[in-house]
Amino acid sequence: MEIFVDSADLEEIKKAKEYGICSGVTTNPSLIKQAVIRMKGDGKNVSMEDYINMICKTIGKNGSVSLEVISLDAKGMVKEAGHLYEKFNPVADNVAIKIPVSTSRHEKEDHYEGLKAISVLDEKGIPVNATLIMTPEQALLAAKSGAKYVSPFAGRIDDWIRKNLGMKFGKSDYFPAEGTKNDKGEIVHDEGVVSGVDLVRKILEVFGKYGIQTKVIAASLRNYRQVREVAELGVHIATIPFNVIEEMIKHPKTFEGVVKFSEDVIPEYSGLFK
Ligand code: G3P
Repeated sequence: MEIFVDSADLEEIKKAKEYGICSGVTTNPSLIKQAVIRMKGDGKNVSMEDYINMICKTIGKNGSVSLEVISLDAKGMVKEAGHLYEKFNPVADNVAIKIPVSTSRHEKEDHYEGLKAISVLDEKGIPVNATLIMTPEQALLAAKSGAKYVSPFAGRIDDWIRKNLGMKFGKSDYFPAEGTKNDKGEIVHDEGVVSGVDLVRKILEVFGKYGIQTKVIAASLRNYRQVREVAELGVHIATIPFNVIEEMIKHPKTFEGVVKFSEDVIPEYSGLFK
C-alpha cells in the first residue's frame, strides 16, 4: 500500500517525505484553503503557483500530486485540467487531476459532467483521480470513463450513516466496519455499504472481479484504525491526513521500551560507539 499525504501543507508534506513514507499528495480546494490560512497566520506570503511548484518538487518524479479543478461543467473542467497539467506536470512529471465523479449539487442538475470530463481527459492522456466517490457504482462508472484513480471518501460515508442514524459524533469518532444496530436491533446500512471501510472493500471487490486497472485511493480517513483496516483490505493507496500519520507511530509500550533500553546501556556497550 502506498501512502499519500492528504494535505496541501508544504511543511507536513516535507516531513512525510523526510520520514520516507510518502509517495504522493492529494489536495482539494478545502485543503488549499487551510494551508493558505495557516501560511498567512505565520506571516508568510507566497504565490499559489510557486507554492504548488514546491509541492510537486517535494514529491518528485515517480510520485503523484493530485490537484483539483473548480468548474462544475465538463468543458470548464477539461480546460482547467489542461491548464493545471501544463503548468505543473513539467515540474516533476507527477500531476494527476482531481475531477468529482459528479458535479451535480442537487437532483435536477446534470449528473454526468464529471464522467464526460474524465473521458475526455483520458483520451488526452491526462491522469485523473475521480473524487467524491461515495458508492461502488460511482467508482465503477469513473473507472469505465478512464480514471486512473478513484477516491472513495470513507470518513464522509461514516458521517452519512451516523447522520441517518441520528447519532451525535465528532470527526475523529470511528464507525464500526461491521455496522451498527439501531434501537430496533437492525443493522443500519447505507444501501448495503455499512461503513466507509466497507465502501473501500466493495470497490476493491468489484474492480478485482473484472481486472479493472484503476487504483483505489482510500480517502477521507480520520484515524489509525481506518488506515489499518483499509491496509488489511489490500487497498492500493491510502491518503492520510498528517495528524493521523502522527497517531500511527505512537504506542505507550514503545515509549516504555525506549526508556528501558536506554536505562540498560552498560559502559562496555556504549564504548563501542566512542
Ligand atoms: O481526501 C479527501 C479528504 O481531504 C476529505 O477529508 O475528513 O474532510 O472528509 P474529510
